[in-house]
Amino acid sequence: MFRNVQFQNTRQKKIDIKVDATPERIAQGQKLATMLCRSCHYNETTDEFTGRELTEAPQFGKIYSANITHDSIVGIGNWSDGDLIYFIRTGIRPDGQYVPPYMPKLIHISDEDLNSIIAFLRSDNGWVKANTAHMPASQPGFITKFLVTINAAKPFEFPTHVIPGPDTTNKAELGKYIALYQLECYSCHSQSFAKNNYYEPAKSPGFFGGGNEMYGLDGNKIYSLNITMDKNTGIGNWSEADFIKALKSGIVPNEQPALRQPMQPYANLTDEEASAIYAYLKTVPAVNNKVERKF
Ligand code: HEC
Ligand code: HEC
Repeated sequence: MFRNVQFQNTRQKKIDIKVDATPERIAQGQKLATMLCRSCHYNETTDEFTGRELTEAPQFGKIYSANITHDSIVGIGNWSDGDLIYFIRTGIRPDGQYVPPYMPKLIHISDEDLNSIIAFLRSDNGWVKANTAHMPASQPGFITKFLVTINAAKPFEFPTHVIPGPDTTNKAELGKYIALYQLECYSCHSQSFAKNNYYEPAKSPGFFGGGNEMYGLDGNKIYSLNITMDKNTGIGNWSEADFIKALKSGIVPNEQPALRQPMQPYANLTDEEASAIYAYLKTVPAVNNKVERKF
């Protein structure tokens, strides 16, 4: 596909994997893609993952997410499973081009969860059936080009070892896996995207203390909130039920307005998973950082 900006050309290492698309994997992949890919790749007009303009990422330029349906010309029909796995972990496409930070990379997600996402992308689910709707090429702005030029935004290394899933019998461990490695809550909820430590998330400045500046769908600035257990500035006074409700429905206590994009209602999480995230957050050091919600 034609793209008008060339970033550094790296090479995609060929990974020889064919994912076995079991019904369990397709179901888990659909759940994960709903929480991890839909917000950017779903298009309301086509009702498919044909991509859209990311108006909420003005800091990066004029950015369009891609068509990731089965179409072999404008979609990913010609990519192998290994191509997809390599790309989702590192950001490097089969043609060697690197996609800058506006497409998040899943460097810690378990091999099994990643296989599930691939199984879903290959499935006969209506969201990914071949569709020729074409997205214009992104026009990354100055900042993106600058970050890439100074190497501040560069491809992640492809993991050299097997990445196992969490011990699901250990509640806090499961919560940690979801919050750091699977859904990456910390990446939005720490101080800033630029300062996050993506290789060792817990070393990110202001870990879970909020205040990270981002943009809502309307293009206005919005800040992530402090979700440490600090009683004055975090969610230390929330009950577990308050937390589960807020996370899954966006409805927060104290008659405050509901949570807005880019925070999404994680309706697909089970109550057990939401409760596990809560158990993990209780182990995270409280951060005293007051973030005002502006409307
Ligand atoms: C925050 C927004 C965002 C999220 C979330 C996101 N993507 Fe993307 N993705 C993008 C953008 C933007 C591009 C296109 C970058 C470009 O070429 O300018 C892209 C490109 C891609 C491509 C490359 C397509 C091509 O033809 O080059 C694939 C494959 C892809 N995404 C898969 C996924 C999957 C799978 C998920 C979920 C696990 C996901 N993306 C989540 C924004 C996102
Ligand atoms: C894409 C960025 C992003 C991601 C990922 C994200 N959040 Fe949020 N979150 C936000 C923003 C922004 C707000 C504030 C929304 C508002 O003010 O309306 C928020 C608000 C919240 C709140 C409300 C806190 C309060 O004091 O009212 C909770 C709880 C929360 N997020 C938990 C989570 C959890 C748990 C995850 C991971 C499963 C997560 N978030 C992932 C951006 C994000």
